[in-house]
Amino acid sequence: MNAPVYDMLKSYVKNNPLPFHMPGHILGRGLIEELKNAGRLDITEIPGSDCLHYPEEALKDAQTLASKCFGADYSLFLVNGSTSGIHIMIRAIVKPGDKLIIGRDCHISVLNALALINAEPVFVRPKIDNENQIPLGASLEDMKKAVSENPDARGILITRPNYYGIAVSLKDIAKLAKEYGMALLVDEAHGAHFCFHPHFPAPSIQNGADLCVQSLHKTLPALTQTALLHGRNSGLNLQNQAQKLSSMIQTTSPSYIFMASIDAARALMEKEGRELYQKLWDNVRRFETELEKRTCIRRVKISFENYETDFSRIVLSFNNTSLSGYEAEEILRTRYGIVAEMADLYNLVLIATPFHAENDFDRLIEALEKISEDYRGKPKTINNVDFYDYIPRRAVPLHIAALYSEKREIPLNQSVGLVCGEAVIPYPPGIPVLNPGEEISTNVVEYLNGIIRLGCSVHGVKDGKISVLNI
Ligand SMILES: Cc1ncc(COP(=O)(O)O)c(C=O)c1O
Repeated sequence: MNAPVYDMLKSYVKNNPLPFHMPGHILGRGLIEELKNAGRLDITEIPGSDCLHYPEEALKDAQTLASKCFGADYSLFLVNGSTSGIHIMIRAIVKPGDKLIIGRDCHISVLNALALINAEPVFVRPKIDNENQIPLGASLEDMKKAVSENPDARGILITRPNYYGIAVSLKDIAKLAKEYGMALLVDEAHGAHFCFHPHFPAPSIQNGADLCVQSLHKTLPALTQTALLHGRNSGLNLQNQAQKLSSMIQTTSPSYIFMASIDAARALMEKEGRELYQKLWDNVRRFETELEKRTCIRRVKISFENYETDFSRIVLSFNNTSLSGYEAEEILRTRYGIVAEMADLYNLVLIATPFHAENDFDRLIEALEKISEDYRGKPKTINNVDFYDYIPRRAVPLHIAALYSEKREIPLNQSVGLVCGEAVIPYPPGIPVLNPGEEISTNVVEYLNGIIRLGCSVHGVKDGKISVLNI
C-alpha cells in the first residue's frame, strides 16, 4: 500500500521514540484503553512529519496521490469534513455582496458560508419525484432560468448526489456555467466512492466541476471528519486561493490520525476499490431479488432522464405496509438491531459499503421479511404530507438575519407573517425549510406541524417554538 502519511507515522513509532512534544497523551500512554492503539499514531508537527499548511514531504505526496486517484488536478486534505470544504469552495469565488446560485436542497453549511461572507443565495428548487416524495436535485432547465435571470452571480453550487443517492447529470450544467463565466462548485459529500466503479454516477471533478468536496467518512473506509477538496485547473485559477483558504479555515493542529486515515483509505480503494465495489454490486443485486421475492417492501428506483443513481444507496419504500419510514426505522433498530442511515415519512435509506458481508444482507432481508409479514397491506396510520419545496420570500438579508439581528422565540402557530431567525431544518434529510431572514407562511407552518406530528425531528423548532426576528 502506497500511503506516505501512514507510512511516515508507522516508521516514527517503530523506533520507539520518547516524545516530549504534543499531544499531551504521549503516543497513547495517557489515553483510555480503547484509544491507546490509535493514540500511537497521534503526533504533531515534528521533524519528518510535514505540515498541512505548508506541505513539502509526506503530506504533499499524499495529496498528490489523492488528486491522481480521484481524477483532480489538485486535492487538499480536510480534517473538518465537507463542511470546511464548502466554506473554502464558496469563499474561493464569492465576495461580500455577491450572489451564488444554489439548489434549495443544499446543506446548511452552504447557507452558513454565505451568511458569514455577507453574500446572498439565489435558490433553485429541486425537482421532486412525486411518486416517492424524494427530491431529485435542481434540473438543467431550472438552472438555466436562474442563470439567465442572474448573470451577475459568481457561480453555481449543486449538491450531487443527494442523501437518496440521486445525482443530476453534470455535463450540461457545466457547459451552462462555462457559457456564463461562472464557477461550478459541487457538494459531492455523499459521492467520494464514485470514481471506484463504472456503475456509479460520473465523478463531478472529472465532468466539469471547478471545485468539489467529498466526505471520505460518509462512504469510504475513513474516520469521521475526513474529507477531500478537489480542484481542476480550468482557467479560473482557484488553486492558490483554495490552498490559502484551507489554511485559514482549518485548525493549525490537524489530526495525523485523520490524515493517515484519508491517505490509507485512498490507497486501499485505489488498489482494491474496483473489486470491492463489484462484490458490493453483486450483493446489492442479490438483496434486491430477495426483497422482491420475499417482501412487499419496494426498493425505490429513480429512472428519470438526466439523473443517475448510486447503487450503494438503498432506498426502501414502505408504501405497501402500514408503516411510515420513521416507524420502519424504529422497528428495524429496536427489534432487529439494524440501524439505517435515515428515514423520512415514506422511505428508509441505508448506506451499503464493500465492508458489509453477504450475511449482513441476509440478516437485513430476514428482518424486512418479518416486518413485511407483520405490516403488509394494513391500513396506513399516517396522513400524507407532501415534500415541501416552496422558496419563501426573503425579507431580511441572510447575513443580517443570521448574525446581527435581535430575535425572540414564539409559538410556531403564531409565527405566520413574521421573519425567521434561525434555520428550520427537518432531520433527516437536513434540507432547510426556512432560512434566517425568510418570511414564514401559513403553508410552511402547516407543513412543519404535519411532519412534527408524524415524528420528524425538526431543528429550529423547540417545544413548539420558533425563532423570529424582532422587527
Ligand atoms: C449534502 C451534504 N453536504 C455536506 C455535508 C457536511 O459534511 P461533513 O459532515 O463531512 O462536514 C453533509 C453532511 O451530512 C451533507 O449531507
